[in-house]
Amino acid sequence: MLWIKRFCFVMTIVSAAAPLTELESALNSLIEVYHKYSNTSTNLIDHQGIELLCSDLDVSPTDVRILMLAWKMKAEKQGYFTQEEWTRGLLALRAYTLSELKNALPELEKDVRMQSNFADFYAYAFTYFLTEEKQGSIDIETICQLLDTVMGSTFRPQVDYFIDYLKIQNEYKVINMDQWMGFYRFCNEISFPDMTEYNPGLAWPLVLNSFVEWIREKQA
Ligand SMILES: *[C@@H]1O[C@H](CO)[C@@H](O)[C@H](O)[C@H]1NC(C)=O
Repeated sequence: MLWIKRFCFVMTIVSAAAPLTELESALNSLIEVYHKYSNTSTNLIDHQGIELLCSDLDVSPTDVRILMLAWKMKAEKQGYFTQEEWTRGLLALRAYTLSELKNALPELEKDVRMQSNFADFYAYAFTYFLTEEKQGSIDIETICQLLDTVMGSTFRPQVDYFIDYLKIQNEYKVINMDQWMGFYRFCNEISFPDMTEYNPGLAWPLVLNSFVEWIREKQA
């Protein structure tokens, strides 16, 4: 019965080796795609690479799905994808070729828009747009664009009003993380435009108190 033992032994090796080979070829493929877009001197996908990638994916560089892709990769620096980030993101999406990546985008969007992921994505979007090291806030103009991209399709009236408010007020030149997350809480917890539940005493960032006051004055 030695041959049976030997057969089983060989089969164990084959079945253990097979997934590895598959993974290896998948990795090779997604690295190959990476090199199509990466800068040869820095080995990073930079702004130019992202633009080319977007054009090949038929999406605009400002499309929310590109930000969702960056979230999936846990990309740290805006406008750049490292090989490690790329590999992490595409493996998670099980996308090993450009066309698989393109096909994965609708599923990615659905995934991000699930309640359990969206707050994390929303917070990520803020940190991704912090340009300077250690800088803790983002200028109003960028915030308005980011709000429109990230929240525009789910909370349209709140986003429109908040953008209008941010553009006409003079008190705030920048928005910090606390204020950014406060607006998310506002959209999720406060009915709009009546805002009957809004209680300024409940630890809201001050910018939201001023925002609500501004709307109430308009409504009066
Ligand atoms: C590659 O990156 C370097 C350094 O940032 C830059 O000077 C160069 O223009 C880039 N090359 C291409 C082809 O984008």
